[in-house]
Amino acid sequence: MNDIYILGIESSCDDTSAAVIRNGYLLSNITASQAVHKAYGGVVPELASRAHQQNIVPVVDQALKQAGITKEQLSAITVTLGPGLMGSLHVGVSFAKGLATSLGIPLIEANHLQGHILAHFILTEGEELRVPPFPYLCLMVSGGNSQIVKVNAYNDMEMLGQTIDDAAGEAMDKCSKVMGFGYPGGPIIDKLARQGNPNAYTFAKPHIAGLDYSFSGLKTSFLYFLRDETKKDPNFVEHHKEDLAASLEKTIIDILMKKLTQAVKETGITEVALSGGVSANTALREAFKTRQDNKQWSIYIPKFGYTTDNAAMIAITGYYKYLDKDFCPIDKPAYSRTTL
Ligand code: KG4
Repeated sequence: MNDIYILGIESSCDDTSAAVIRNGYLLSNITASQAVHKAYGGVVPELASRAHQQNIVPVVDQALKQAGITKEQLSAITVTLGPGLMGSLHVGVSFAKGLATSLGIPLIEANHLQGHILAHFILTEGEELRVPPFPYLCLMVSGGNSQIVKVNAYNDMEMLGQTIDDAAGEAMDKCSKVMGFGYPGGPIIDKLARQGNPNAYTFAKPHIAGLDYSFSGLKTSFLYFLRDETKKDPNFVEHHKEDLAASLEKTIIDILMKKLTQAVKETGITEVALSGGVSANTALREAFKTRQDNKQWSIYIPKFGYTTDNAAMIAITGYYKYLDKDFCPIDKPAYSRTTL
């Protein structure tokens, strides 16, 4: 049998990434991140698409080079079609369509969220990886999404619950901005929280039915708390930043774990995975490990390199779709919003 080479391309937000997978094993994964957004406290869509334009060709070139192959050896190209920022998606999608057409090979659609969930299946040759067995539950938490997904198979996923407003990462980023910290806020809060008291302050937790999440009430409660405290002490944030970060982080993790625990109870599935940018969070990983230590769940936590946006997760999604001959019409447009 001929080797199957899949090129994955990801450009849904502010990372331009390309990866090559051979027969299900990762050969290269190159990402160009965009420092330009730091000065604005969030991703500026226009600047993101311009940076993708600059990065896409060198990043794909480097991924092919590191994999030791030429573009003519590719079996298919898989690209994130959505959800994401439209201007950013268009760069990766147009590039992938052009390359697939010129090479006469199939185009495969990857859903960004599906990619994050399948990050647990990224293997390098010779590596022993413990992969979750189907069906499993996945807590997918990033800057744009917070969802509990039941994963029945590589290409069969059911959304059990999702945020009705802000995502968990977005809540961290916005609260970080209010405190005058940099972007993205998640890693900054993570670091500060390690020196703080998680029980120093309490913030509002949502009371919504079912398995859905909500983080906008917490954000407002945090904002009002800071407004009142800084009236009394203008340097309140500076004096208490560790405790603020730890208490905020604890509230977010309590909210996430409460609904996830409910999902485990309702489905009877105790194989539980974590995915998305917020899965890099130290305390959230600890909360997962505690469930495993207590013998409640079998847990699956992605490697740090696969928590944030990357093309390896897109390429592995494409590999399984290639095996199913699940190809994408060349005229299918990118989409900014979608569920799974
Ligand atoms: O998955 P991702 O790279 O992009 C999206 O698809 O959204 O996730 C980015 C999000 C940001 O909100 C960032 O603050 C958060 O992940 N994040 C973290 C940590 N590292 C990244 N949140 C908490 N703790 C971290 N260590």
